[in-house]
Amino acid sequence: MHTPRASLSAIAAGILATSALAGCATVRDSAQVSSESGAGVAHPEIWPAYDYPVPVNPEHEARIANLLARMTLPEKIGQLVQADLCCVTPEDVRTYNLGSILVGGNSGPYGNDLAPAPEWLRAADEFYASSVDTSDGGVGIPVVWGTDAVHGHSNIIGATLFPHNIGLGAMRDPDLVERIGQVTAAEIRVTGQEWTFAPTVAVPQDYRWGRAYEGYSSNPDLVASYVGAMVRGLQGPPSNDDLLSGPYVIASTKHFLADGGTDNGVDQGNSSISESELRDIHGAPYGPAIAEGVATVMVSFSSWQGRKMTGNRSLVTGVLKDRMDFGGFVVSDWNAHGQVEGCTNESCPQALMAGIDMYMAPDSWRPIYDDLLARAEAGTIPMSRIDEAVARILRVKMRLGLFEAGAPSTRPLSGEFDTLGSPEHRAVAREAVRKSLVLLKNQNVLPLAPGGRLLVAGEGADDLARQSGGWTLSWQGTGIDNSNFPGATSIYAGLRLAVEAGGGSVQLSPDGSFTQRPDAAVVVFGEKPYAEFQGDRETLALDADLTGPYATMARLRAQGIPVVALMITGRPLYVNPALNASDAFVVAWLPGSEGEGIADVLVGDGEGNPRFDFTGKLPADWPRTPDMDDGALFEFGYGLTYGSPAAAWTPLAEVDTAAAADTRTWFAAGRPAASWSLLVEGNEGDAQTRVTTVPAEALSGRVRVSAADFQVQEGARRFTIQDGTASVVLRNFEPVDLDRETNADVLMLVTLNTMDAPDSAMLGAAGETTSGMVSFAMPRTDGFVRYGIPLRCLRSKGADMTDLNQPFVLQTTGTTDFAIGEVRLGTDAEVVLPCD
Ligand code: BGC
Ligand code: BGC
Repeated sequence: MHTPRASLSAIAAGILATSALAGCATVRDSAQVSSESGAGVAHPEIWPAYDYPVPVNPEHEARIANLLARMTLPEKIGQLVQADLCCVTPEDVRTYNLGSILVGGNSGPYGNDLAPAPEWLRAADEFYASSVDTSDGGVGIPVVWGTDAVHGHSNIIGATLFPHNIGLGAMRDPDLVERIGQVTAAEIRVTGQEWTFAPTVAVPQDYRWGRAYEGYSSNPDLVASYVGAMVRGLQGPPSNDDLLSGPYVIASTKHFLADGGTDNGVDQGNSSISESELRDIHGAPYGPAIAEGVATVMVSFSSWQGRKMTGNRSLVTGVLKDRMDFGGFVVSDWNAHGQVEGCTNESCPQALMAGIDMYMAPDSWRPIYDDLLARAEAGTIPMSRIDEAVARILRVKMRLGLFEAGAPSTRPLSGEFDTLGSPEHRAVAREAVRKSLVLLKNQNVLPLAPGGRLLVAGEGADDLARQSGGWTLSWQGTGIDNSNFPGATSIYAGLRLAVEAGGGSVQLSPDGSFTQRPDAAVVVFGEKPYAEFQGDRETLALDADLTGPYATMARLRAQGIPVVALMITGRPLYVNPALNASDAFVVAWLPGSEGEGIADVLVGDGEGNPRFDFTGKLPADWPRTPDMDDGALFEFGYGLTYGSPAAAWTPLAEVDTAAAADTRTWFAAGRPAASWSLLVEGNEGDAQTRVTTVPAEALSGRVRVSAADFQVQEGARRFTIQDGTASVVLRNFEPVDLDRETNADVLMLVTLNTMDAPDSAMLGAAGETTSGMVSFAMPRTDGFVRYGIPLRCLRSKGADMTDLNQPFVLQTTGTTDFAIGEVRLGTDAEVVLPCD
């Protein structure tokens, strides 16, 4: 149903009237942007100038002018807004003339993140149809659908998954990068989308950053050498002005600017570097992107010199649009406008004034739309800026051919589901895997003989989610298993195929035990999937709970079995014990769906010769210790080949990394994280008990704390409570700030076994003066269940999420008996608790 325009304007005017301050704020803000000066203000004249190569199409320009003359103000505002599938219907797109929809990492059609491919195409048709519906008298601008196809069409089950960008960086092969772009574009087109939020052209300078794997390299020249190729692969040449008639989509270079340059590698953080570093390191990839006519640029969540990029007019308009002549449109990141000084998720004219053309307003699209409309009607944001933004968006849509392309399902490649993960496409990914492997050590073990008996150990060896990393089917790459990867080949499966083809045999044994003595062992180890900010770490050490395979390597080696360490990782990390404990060491990065590419290089031809050589070179320095400042053990560009002269191995110094952990785990293995305490509290006035050893008693004997088993012996704490109110609390004297996590789909995960249900329970978080508690049914379970409570729910219940010194509180009344196995942040709940 279409909302009549008059009433929309009336609603909008009402909003403005009730918020008398809104207008004043805008006046002040626009004054601020026009006289930007001081820290975080760039000088466009010192930046390189480019020429946007996409030819001006006079026919398109005439059409744009004609449309702008006919569009109503609400129609124009709608074009500036992008909503997420989580929170928008085709009906909304019709009513509000929304310019774009996106599918975030955890969204999917019809509420199913793991929806089968045909459902995506069906949803694309529905959104398209409502966008072009002119029965209400509107002009009917077709909607464009964006998706994070960041290593292949990676939200779709069965798609070809390429190595994440860091692995591509190791290949040093722009031609292959272009072919990867072509395959990715073709697979996107099968399911009806037109736009990928890729490539990420970050130039990570600190690998503690959890998104470092999304960048090709720490070296700006290497990143710059890839960008044009990827954009060309995705979009075709800049002269291409009808992308949808061929196998293409539009690209988005992201995140402008210095997403990989934040201090200490903190995601969405601040970069305090100089303007020349900003330009020369992080700006380097944008020249080649513009030279290839990239259609969109996504602006970074992060800040430069204390100023949020999304509100930085000197960079977004001054440098990118004016100086670099970028002719496409600029999209902001997921509610990033809400982080701009003076803005909220619901209101941020500052972003538009800085040069953002389209707001990524996943769940906030409606208030953003209302707010922009009200301000436009009140004249506090200039029509010229609105028209310019709309024109940019229409220009890209015309170049795409969106106005003529018809319904998504009628376009070339649409619905050809066999194209997803086709043998030809997988062959390209397999080639990329082969070329991305980096050999750091080889003491006469590789290549493996195909005729022998091979042991494949390590928990990551037969785990497609693990080898694919974050941004795979789900946002964090968690909550999925091998059954979600039809047609893919795990590392183990690839090795088995190669060895069996040569007449040998393979035993898969995660813990490295064996029945028949192997001739050699491959021990797969390394990181587990993570994405944005979940992957940030304090040091460059592999998390201590992932180092178990070191002992497996040492044990096998002690028995005289040659060991190949194969590392799955999003970044170079300190792993000296594995380098010492193995005879050969191969970095596989995050290879994706084609595990056979690993066997291609590791398993020889049966006559002692390799079938493929190692060609990968490190895309960034490999650290000597967990502290980057201690320098490189292997420098950028390092990588052995089969021809490298054998050198003696001098054992590397090892340091203690027992404390290296994901700081998002607050309680595990029966213990709170380092510097945290486990407390039992009663009503106000009762003495509080800090539980250090078990068994323990609290609240005058009303609560008994003992050990219970979870994953490992005594891996949980059991609380047996008699009557009354009692709270189990995790406290940290350094209050935690969960603001970023709260803006995303992050949950507090609590793994509980309830043996005797309480009368009532509340679960939540608290700070010194605020708290957010949710009532929790807490039924008897007789087994551990991983519950998740959305952080945004705790915020809506009143917790100040920036300042929590008791981030976990479980309060019960009545007699109860339960055990807590784990408390951490994450996305993989078995049961998501309602927020009511
Ligand atoms: C990420 C972007 C991504 C977007 C949509 C953001 O949080 O920073 O890289 O494209 O979400 O999923
Ligand atoms: C979405 C991602 C997005 C992130 C932003 C998540 O809820 O699924 O696509 O990038 O939030 O932080």
